[in-house]
Order: sequence, then C-alpha cells, then structure tokens
Amino acid sequence: MTFFTIFTILHLLLTPSPPLLKLVRADDQLIQMECHNAEVPTTCMLCLKSDRGAAAADKVGIATILVNCLKNHANTLAANMSDLVSGTKDQVVKIVLHECGQGYSSAKKKLSSATSSLKSGKYDDAERFVNEALKYELTCHSKIGSYKERIPEDIVHEMKIYEELSEAAKRIVERL
Ligand SMILES: *[C@@H]1O[C@H](CO)[C@@H](O)[C@H](O)[C@H]1NC(C)=O
Repeated sequence: MTFFTIFTILHLLLTPSPPLLKLVRADDQLIQMECHNAEVPTTCMLCLKSDRGAAAADKVGIATILVNCLKNHANTLAANMSDLVSGTKDQVVKIVLHECGQGYSSAKKKLSSATSSLKSGKYDDAERFVNEALKYELTCHSKIGSYKERIPEDIVHEMKIYEELSEAAKRIVERL
C-alpha cells in the first residue's frame, strides 16, 4: 500500500459523515398514526410523503391529500385504459376496457366532489363519494378479471394501489 492509499483510507475513516438531515418532523407522528389506522400503511405513507404539505396537515388535510392521490391514480388509469382500448383487437376486451376507462373518469368526478365535501366539512358526503369512486374501480376489477393476463402488470399494480388508497381514505374520513 502506498502512503497515499493509506492516507485516503484514514481520511475516509476519520472524516465525520455530514449531520443527518432532520427527517422526523413534528407531524410525522400524525401521518404515521393515521396511516397505521388505515391498515395499508405503506401505500398511505407513499402518498402522503409525495405531498409537501403533508407535514403541516391536520386530519382533514391528510384526508384531502389521500383523495388527491386517488384522483391522480384515477386519471392515470383512465388514460391507461384508453391506450389499451386502441391497442386491443378483441371486441369483447375492447368493450370491457372502454367501460373501465369511463369508470375511472366517473371516479375522478366523484373524487372532486369528495374534495369539495371535505373542504365544507361534510365528512359523511366525502366518505360516500370515496366509496362511489371505489365502486367504479371494483366493477372494473371484476370485469377485467378473466382478461388480466392481457393487462400490463404495472396497470394491474396501479389498480391495486388505487384500492389501497381508497381504503386508507375511507378509514381516515370516517374518523373525522
Ligand atoms: C399509464 O399512464 C401513465 C400516465 O399517462 C403513463 O405514465 C404510464 O406509462 C401508463 N402505463 C402504461 C402501462 O401504459
């Protein structure tokens, strides 16, 4: 070993690592508690961590962020379904995918209503809208069932995340 190598190794060993960023914010506790109650903590946390406002959010704010994530997923899924429709020749599958796409578009509208309800403090309405949005997803899920192998895996995964996020949003809204 050359002197230089030894010097480099010593230098690496002795240089203190930069102070860890302060990762735990005050309201992480609220987020963790809410997501834990929602029974799908990982998906719930991923959604909330993606929103800068989450750390400062109260329970209604957390519910609103989850509904926003749902809306984004409904949007993506609606786009994915219409892409799939144009790439599918089988007429029966085409119809199913088309209906799924329409379902996700309708779900998006329900979720916008859920956001408004949360804003005006009508939490029962918000819960109902999230449920109605979930019904569109579950209808699509069951119709798609037998054609699942023709649906790209990441879309199937996206659908699963949508269901988990709905579950989380429902649990959190029903506690408001
Ligand atoms: C689904 O849609 C999103 C948004 O348009 C896109 O980023 C993603 O690649 C699509 N996934 C597939 C499998 O088409």
